[in-house]
Amino acid sequence: MTVTKTNASRLRHLQGKRVFMEDFGCQMNKNDAELVVGRLGRAGWSRAERPEEADVVLYYTCAVREHAEERIYGRLGHLKRLKKERPDLVIGVMGCMAQNQKERIFERAPHVDLVVGTSRFEEIADFLADIEYQDRVVALDQGEVAYERDIHARPVRHQAYVTVMRGCDKFCTFCIVPFTQGRERSRTPEEIEKEVRALVDDGVQQVTLLGQRVNTYGLDLNRGETLATLLQRLESIPGLGRLQFITSHPTHIDETLMRVIRDHPVHSRYLHLPVQSGSDRMLRIMNRGHDVESYRRTMDMVRRIVPDMSLATDWIVGFPGETDEDFQASVRLQKDVGFQTSFVFKYSDRSGTKASRSMPDDVPQAVKEERNQILLAQQRAISEELHRGRVGTEHTILVEGRSKRDASKWFGRTSQNWIVVFSAERDFTGQFVRVRVTDATALTLFAELV
Ligand code: SAH
Ligand code: SF4
Ligand code: F3S
Repeated sequence: MTVTKTNASRLRHLQGKRVFMEDFGCQMNKNDAELVVGRLGRAGWSRAERPEEADVVLYYTCAVREHAEERIYGRLGHLKRLKKERPDLVIGVMGCMAQNQKERIFERAPHVDLVVGTSRFEEIADFLADIEYQDRVVALDQGEVAYERDIHARPVRHQAYVTVMRGCDKFCTFCIVPFTQGRERSRTPEEIEKEVRALVDDGVQQVTLLGQRVNTYGLDLNRGETLATLLQRLESIPGLGRLQFITSHPTHIDETLMRVIRDHPVHSRYLHLPVQSGSDRMLRIMNRGHDVESYRRTMDMVRRIVPDMSLATDWIVGFPGETDEDFQASVRLQKDVGFQTSFVFKYSDRSGTKASRSMPDDVPQAVKEERNQILLAQQRAISEELHRGRVGTEHTILVEGRSKRDASKWFGRTSQNWIVVFSAERDFTGQFVRVRVTDATALTLFAELV
């Protein structure tokens, strides 16, 4: 379809409407969803708390596992009745599942009006104007993503995400992301710096740089830019308290990057480096581009240069052909590296990927579940042991707000991304405070102010 440029009269026509937005999937999605809400805010829209109160319902969707897509179809199913009662209600599916399912969404959910993929969200106001005189709008091409950010429109005052690159060129055989997000495209460092400075001027303390393979940032710009040079460019921005990045791939973690992190306290001591498996055979057929030995070497290098780095990883259990022996290799690697955090996923066959085309999804669901539980249990034990060893130590934390479990307490995070719960007489949200750890569980450090 063709899109006309936004003009004042069309936006006026849309004024005063209400949008309900729910996001799924990764932080980049969360951020894109916020950009969409911010974009509509500039067009005079307000946010609805529930679909029932909205003129437009938007889902910012994920496609990484089948379960993620089924959840969206569940949500859409619930909207059927609402749409029958109010035929003028506009329902839109945006993001990775839109990109992945394309027009197929209409087969299962014919009451959907809008399917917008991963690269055209900035045009949302145009699409909503088009829907006034057009049956359906579908926008799926994956090009440049140019957007103007409303700096003030963000859900949390003291923290913000900044997408520095989109797409992935790695094509791990299980993964849908290269298909939904397209090829790697980095934003220029100048543009990123401008955005970060504006956010910090508006009170942001912590900035998280986002990319699907954020440690290949800059390579496509062909001007010598890397994640390390980007971090150096941003590290001295006055007022910026903490700078972090997610998510990395194990093949582009080098000593230069680690030295940059070591040499400036603004850099977060948290590295999320998904390994997926501890078996070389699995890593090979996953097309990960590294083996267990090189991963271990990378982790050793990271710890040598940045000894207080906290390590997190992702695992896939039940990848096609994963034997008990392969799985035991994952169990061993998890134990040996001593990760603070593991995200464990049961393999999900994604149509269109190489694994889906050439490898049968042959590990029984019960076995996937069992392996999932084994890795989670071992991780809990490792996390708890590491955390217990921290009782008595002092940390600077960025306070995020009231504790979710106990509203009489507060919580924040250390530079290592550890969650700290503490008591205080007043609200320090958005500020850095010093705490001493008094007790610990696998997921939480308990502390007192010092
Ligand atoms: N860009 C990130 C990963 C994004 S997907 C990276 O490369 O690190 C997040 C995690 O989902 C992956 O690390 C992997 O563990 C998991 N994942 C991806 N595809 C999957 C699939 N088909 N089945 C199960 N888990 C999957
Ligand atoms: Fe997916 Fe691999 Fe790219 Fe990560 S690096 S997004 S797992 S293809
Ligand atoms: Fe999901 Fe797309 Fe993110 S598939 S994990 S929302 S990049």
